[in-house]
Amino acid sequence: MEKLVIEGGKQLFGEVNISGAKNAALPLIAACLLAPGVHVLHNVPELRDTKTILRLLESLGLTWEREGDTLKIDGTGLRHSEASYDLVKTMRASVLVLGPLLARLGRAKVSLPGGCAIGARPINFHLMGFEQLGVTCDIKNGYVDARIDGRMQGSTVYFDIPSVTGTENLLMAAVLAKGTTIIKNAAKEPEIGNLIDMLIAMGADIEGRDSDRLTIHGVEKLTAAESRIIPDRIEAGTYAIAVGATGGDAVIKNCNPSHLPSLLEKLRLAGIGVDISEKSIRITSPENKKSIQPVDITTMPYPGYPTDLQAQFMALMSMSNGLSVINETIFENRFMHVAELQRMGASIKVDGRIAMVKGLGGNRLTGAQVMATDLRASSSLVIAGLAATGRTDISRIYHLERGYEDMVGKLTGLGATVWKENE
Ligand code: EPZ
Repeated sequence: MEKLVIEGGKQLFGEVNISGAKNAALPLIAACLLAPGVHVLHNVPELRDTKTILRLLESLGLTWEREGDTLKIDGTGLRHSEASYDLVKTMRASVLVLGPLLARLGRAKVSLPGGCAIGARPINFHLMGFEQLGVTCDIKNGYVDARIDGRMQGSTVYFDIPSVTGTENLLMAAVLAKGTTIIKNAAKEPEIGNLIDMLIAMGADIEGRDSDRLTIHGVEKLTAAESRIIPDRIEAGTYAIAVGATGGDAVIKNCNPSHLPSLLEKLRLAGIGVDISEKSIRITSPENKKSIQPVDITTMPYPGYPTDLQAQFMALMSMSNGLSVINETIFENRFMHVAELQRMGASIKVDGRIAMVKGLGGNRLTGAQVMATDLRASSSLVIAGLAATGRTDISRIYHLERGYEDMVGKLTGLGATVWKENE
C-alpha cells in the first residue's frame, strides 16, 4: 500500500484547476444504462470510484472508452442485471444502478452496500420509493432482488430525509415509468441538477430542478445524449480550506463558487479572504495563524454546510484562536479523523455528533504518522499535514484516491512539498 508524505509549513500559492465532480460523475455514468447508443460525458474525473462504476457497467454488458476527460459509453449491450458484492462493497454508490436497471429491464439484483467508516448507510428510502412505483424488493443473502413485470407505474414518493442517491435512483427509475411520479422532500444538491439536465437531454420530462419537489412525466423511451459533469464543489472547498490553513494566496480555478454558499461564508467568518468570480475563487489568508477566528458549523443538506467538508474545516479550526463547535447531523460516525488530528496536537472533544475544537492559536500542529480512514477524513489529514511543522506520513491513501484526482500534482503545483511512497 502507498502512503502520502508531506513536509509541512509551506504556504500554498498560485492556482489549481478543479476536476469534474465525483458525485455527479457516478449518477451520470449510471444513467447511461437507461438507453442504447453512445452517451458522451465531458469533464469526467479519473478516480478510483469512476473506475469502479465503469467496471460495474462492463459487468452488466456495456462498453466504454475514455479520450482525456471525455467518456463514451455505449448502452446498447446491456444484458445482465446483477451487481456483485465484490464490486459494490468497495463503493456504496454502486446502488445507483438499481433505478436504471429497473427502468430498462424491470429487474435488478444488487448487493446491499453494507456499512462504511462513516455510518451504516442504509438504502431503505431507495427501496420504499421503488415499491411505491410497483416494484417488488426482496432482501436475501445480502442482495436486493428487485423486479417488476412490465413498466413501473408513476406514484408519489416522500423521503423522510432528502437522500442524495435516493433522489437520483428514483429519478432514473421514474423517467421510463407509466404516468407521473412526484418526489417530495427531494435532495437539492447541484449534482442532482446535473443528472436532471442529462436525463432531459435524453428525452425525459422533468419539472422542479433545484427544488425539493420533482415531477417526472414518464416517457416510452430515451436516447443517448451528450453531457458535461459539473465542477467538484467538494474538491474546490477542500483546496480553499487548504490554502486558508497554510496562510497562502491562491486561485481555485474551473469551479462554480455558487455551489459553495455555506463554506465561503464560513471561511470569511474565520477571517480568510474570499474573492469570487464566475468560475474561480481567490483565497487569501493572513500569514499569522493567530488571526484564524473560531467558527461553528452544523452540517445540513444542500444548501446548508456540506457534511463532505466537515472534516476539512475541523483541521482549519484546530488552528484557530478560540473554541468552535462542529455538529455533524448527517452521518452517525463521521469523526474518524479526530483521533488522527489529536495525534498532530489538535485539542478536540467529541460528544456524540458534536465535536468541540479548541484552536491552538498561534501554535502549530506537529507532523506525525497518521492513518486515513475514509475519503474526506483523509483530506482533512492532508490539510493538517500541509499546515503542520515537520513531516506527516498518511497511510492508506487509497481512500484519498477515491475522490481526489491527482492530488499530489495539484498540491505540488501550489508549492507544497508532497510525494507518495510505498509503505
Ligand atoms: C451522498 O451519499 C454522497 N455520495 C456522499 O458523499 C454525501 O456525504 C451524502 O450524499 C450527503 O450529502 C454520493 O453522492 C455518491 P444520503 P448518500 O442518502 O446519497 C440516511 C463523499 O465523501 N439514509 O443523502 O449515500 C443516511 O444514512 C460521499 O463523496 C437513510 O437512512 O447520502 C444519512 O444519514 C460520502 N436511508 C442521510 O440519510 C436511505 O435510504 C443522508 O444520506 C438513504 C439515506
